[in-house]
Amino acid sequence: MDPERIAALFSKPLTINKLGLANRVVMGPMAANAPTKAGGPSDQTIAFYEARAKGGVGMIIAGGIVATKRSLAEAPGKTSLRFDEDEFIPDLRRVADAVHKYGVPIIAEFIPGFGRMGRPGRGRPIISASPKNVVIPEDRFPAGMLVPGGQVTSVPDEATIEEIETYEREMIDAAVRAHKAGWDGVEIAFHMSYFGSSFLAPRTNWRTDRYGGSAENRARMLVNTISGIRQKLGRDYVVGARMQADDYIPESQGAAGFAEVAKFVEQAGIDYLALSPGCYETMDTNCAAKDGVLVKDGVARTFREALKVPLIVQGQHKPANAAEVLEQGLGDLISFARPMLADPELANKLLSGRSDDIVRCDRQNTCVRRMIFGMEMRCTVNPTMGLESRKPGSLPPARRLIQVPIENAVLGLTGSKAVMGLVGKMMKK
Ligand SMILES: Cc1cc2nc3c(=O)[nH]c(=O)nc-3n(C[C@H](O)[C@H](O)[C@H](O)COP(=O)(O)O)c2cc1C
Ligand code: SF4
Repeated sequence: MDPERIAALFSKPLTINKLGLANRVVMGPMAANAPTKAGGPSDQTIAFYEARAKGGVGMIIAGGIVATKRSLAEAPGKTSLRFDEDEFIPDLRRVADAVHKYGVPIIAEFIPGFGRMGRPGRGRPIISASPKNVVIPEDRFPAGMLVPGGQVTSVPDEATIEEIETYEREMIDAAVRAHKAGWDGVEIAFHMSYFGSSFLAPRTNWRTDRYGGSAENRARMLVNTISGIRQKLGRDYVVGARMQADDYIPESQGAAGFAEVAKFVEQAGIDYLALSPGCYETMDTNCAAKDGVLVKDGVARTFREALKVPLIVQGQHKPANAAEVLEQGLGDLISFARPMLADPELANKLLSGRSDDIVRCDRQNTCVRRMIFGMEMRCTVNPTMGLESRKPGSLPPARRLIQVPIENAVLGLTGSKAVMGLVGKMMKK
């Protein structure tokens, strides 16, 4: 497909609820916020999003957010932007104001809790729909992530009804804060083996109460949260959902099973659905090394045929592949996550027929590894990533003189097949 045709497909505006999007490019959610120690937005948070808004994106979905007390406690990293307390509202408004200057809407992604991927604390075991842990085989990690022997999480406790209802209530309260802070909407995320996704499929949900069994029951937590937000904020506030669209586990329910649950979520009144491929057990399908996930496997088509709401499709980095999704009507919007770290000008280039000039993400996931090791966010191919707020010509803070060599050593050793192979052999002995 030629760049002009790509530009034409991406340039079509779209209205979600009453929110006008200038084009079909969405920045996907990423925990790349660089918040303050207290969990509020920093100058870097604002500059990071502002650069992407200036870069012409149609809508930003901000990730790395905690909306509930439990998710704050069990977040794997300490990089969460907090929506769980009113005190953060004035600074969150600064983020919204910064992107609104460019006419770009911003949505807050709420992950209720980290569930099976959470960090247990003293007297606070991890919880999930049912006591099923996550087993990630060594060969299912995304490119660049070498984990000898794979990863096995501890077995979670089955969440009580009270714990589920607390999550629902706290997410509704957090949505009210997002609204007060001038954010354009919220996205409730049930994906990637986190707490919410464990309810969606019989493989991970063995409950016999009102949150388990039928597809309607497995959708209940999402439905309750969405209905609760609607009751507080009315029909006009944008409420989207991000859902595990298929876990790609053969003994699970397949895309048709997930889409059946999604129908109940649609009936609850969502404005869009973002499709998330895979789960931690099949993590290589989420931060995929190649285009085609959700499209070549037929998952997007299954959802397209089952639902009427606008769909967000991810994972297509090549402009022509992404544009084809729009052309075929398999998705209404394309989400770019890593590509937005690699090139904040991605949207402007796509929209102006300069898609060949886009700085391409290498899909080697150094950014993900940095996040896992708690390092400041950077990108291999974009030297300005993570430094958007730094004044031109100013020196890095003194702490970076110590941090940078340590980071390089850690990334080098853990990224070396030889070193990690040796570690694997020693573990087996
Ligand atoms: C550094 C980084 C942080 C991420 N944080 C989140 C997050 O907070 N919430 C979320 O739903 N997905 C998160 N993701 C996953 C992305 O939204 C997306 O699913 C994934 O990067 C694949 O899309 P892409 O090929 O466009 O990068 C993160 C990805 C990266 C690279
Ligand atoms: S570090 Fe940059 S180039 Fe590498 S995967 Fe992340 S976004 Fe892409």
